[in-house]
Amino acid sequence: MTPALAVPRLENTLVEDHTREHHLLRQHLLHPAARIDSKYFYDDVGCELFTHICELDEYYPTRTEATILSHCGAEIAAVLPGCAQWIDLGCGDCSKSRKWLDKVQPSRLVGVDIAADFLQHSLAKIAISHPGVECIGVVSDFTQALELRDLLSEQPLSPPVFFYPGSSIGNFARAEALQLLRRIREHCGEHGKLLIGVDLIKSRDVLEAAYDDREGVTAAFNLNVLKVVNRELHADFLLENFRHDAVFNEFDSRIEMRLVSQKHHDVSLGAGSVRHFDQGESILTEYSYKYTPADFAAMLAEAGFSRHHYWTDAQHWFGVFLAEA
Ligand code: AVI
Repeated sequence: MTPALAVPRLENTLVEDHTREHHLLRQHLLHPAARIDSKYFYDDVGCELFTHICELDEYYPTRTEATILSHCGAEIAAVLPGCAQWIDLGCGDCSKSRKWLDKVQPSRLVGVDIAADFLQHSLAKIAISHPGVECIGVVSDFTQALELRDLLSEQPLSPPVFFYPGSSIGNFARAEALQLLRRIREHCGEHGKLLIGVDLIKSRDVLEAAYDDREGVTAAFNLNVLKVVNRELHADFLLENFRHDAVFNEFDSRIEMRLVSQKHHDVSLGAGSVRHFDQGESILTEYSYKYTPADFAAMLAEAGFSRHHYWTDAQHWFGVFLAEA
C-alpha cells in the first residue's frame, strides 16, 4: 500500500499583485530596449524544457556541479555543521537537497519556492523518506524579498545552511546578486553558511553551445516565453516571427539570450497597447553571468562573508563555494 503523504508545515509569504506585474511586463516590452523578465520562462512547459536542457550534452553546468558535489561531498560535509537548518533556495522537487540529507543530517529542511503546490508535494515526499527531518515549505519569491529570521530563530541552536545550487545566482545582475548574498549573510548570524554553485568563465564556443544546443531545446525554451506573455497579457506574439539568439558578451562576462524579430511587424500587448518590431530588433530575455573564482570570492567578501572554501572540476568550468559568516 502506498503510504499517505505527510503534510509539511507551509508558510506563504508571497504577495502577488498581478495588475502591477502585468503593467511592468507591458512597459518593459514597450520600451525601446524591449525585455521580458526571465521569471516568465517557468510555466509548466518551460519547467519541462528546462529539465530537458539540464540533460543536454552541451549544457555542462548541471552535470559538472553534480560531479563536484559528489566527488567532494564528504569533504564538503565535513565542514558543514551537524543538526543544521538546511535552507534550499528555489528547491523545486528538492532532488538536490535530498542527496545531502543523509550526509549532513539536518534537524530541519526549509524549502523555499514560488510554486506552492509543487513545494508541498516535494516536501511531503521528503517527510516520508526522512521522518527525522522537520520539513517546512516557505512559498516566497526570495529574489525579491528574503525574510526567514523569525522561522530560523525557532531553533537557535541549529545554525542555518543556505543551499543555492545551479548557478542561479548568475541570472542576477551583479548589484542584485550582491544584494541577495548580503541578505543571506544577514540570516547567517555567527555560525551560518552558504553552499552555492557558480558557473565560471570559459571559451566562447563551450558557453554559446550550452545556450544554443543542436536539438533546439534552448531555442524552444526561449520562444516559449512568448506563449507565457500571450497568456498573461492577452498579447498576440507569433513564435514564428522570432528566432532564438544566445551570445557571450565577453566585456560584461555574461550570456545574453534574446528573441530576434524576423520581420517588420506589430504585436498587440493587450490593454490597447501595440508594439512595432523592426526586422532584426530583439527582446532581451535572460542574462547568465559567468565569474572567475576570484571575482566571486570578492563578491562573497563584499557581502560580508569572512572566509570560504572552494571546489571545482578538472576543467575548472564550475565552482562550488562554501561561504562562512
Ligand atoms: C537557471 N539558470 C541557472 C539557467 C542558466 O544557465 O542561466 C537558465 C538557462 N537559460 C538557458 N539555459 C539555461
